[in-house]
Amino acid sequence: MKFFIDTANLEEIKEANSLGILSGVTTNPSLVAKEEGVDFHDRIREIAQVVPGSVSAEVIALDAEGMIEEGKVLAAIAPNITVKVPMTTEGLKAVHEFSKQGIKTNVTLIFSAVQALIAARAGATYVSPFLGRLDDIGADGLSLVEQISGIFNVHGLDTEIIAASVRHPVHVTEAALKGAHIATIPFNVIKQLTKHPLTDQGIEKFLADWNK
Ligand code: E4P
Repeated sequence: MKFFIDTANLEEIKEANSLGILSGVTTNPSLVAKEEGVDFHDRIREIAQVVPGSVSAEVIALDAEGMIEEGKVLAAIAPNITVKVPMTTEGLKAVHEFSKQGIKTNVTLIFSAVQALIAARAGATYVSPFLGRLDDIGADGLSLVEQISGIFNVHGLDTEIIAASVRHPVHVTEAALKGAHIATIPFNVIKQLTKHPLTDQGIEKFLADWNK
């Protein structure tokens, strides 16, 4: 499983990239809105220069025509831009058109396996099931990843699964076990991935022994 970072913050992206683990970046309108005073297109351009892998930039329009118009502008920013499109019928029309034009797409806000299947059939490059938001309503986000992975494997679909709305390291481990190709992870959770109390204790003990 590959790692993307889920943020529009350039410092976080640079720091995570320096670990050598980043294969891409996802943003969404809420994440971009957190970056006050930043022009959306400029920020996407900056991110795409830092990380050579897929950089998802989301459209705001709700109709297919508007999504296609916005998506073409986003895709022209850099060759590694992926146009992020919401899981709606209008979104699928846009995905179909982008796929004919060779523009990569990430279908977002996936909450059921059949949504993932239909997005894949429309030509999505990636689908993003939202684990944390399903867990929040008492459903099981990780089972959804398992279902989508099973369906894609049985039917030979090459759309990649991005485990999104990741809240903690267990989501990351389990998403990898259940067949996600990618997890897109907030910076605070990426930092948690390196941690274990026994590692800290071990370092302390080695240093204490060394200093004796
Ligand atoms: C990524 O593509 C999603 O937009 C993001 O992971 C959503 O995360 P949230 O549910 O924490 O907002």
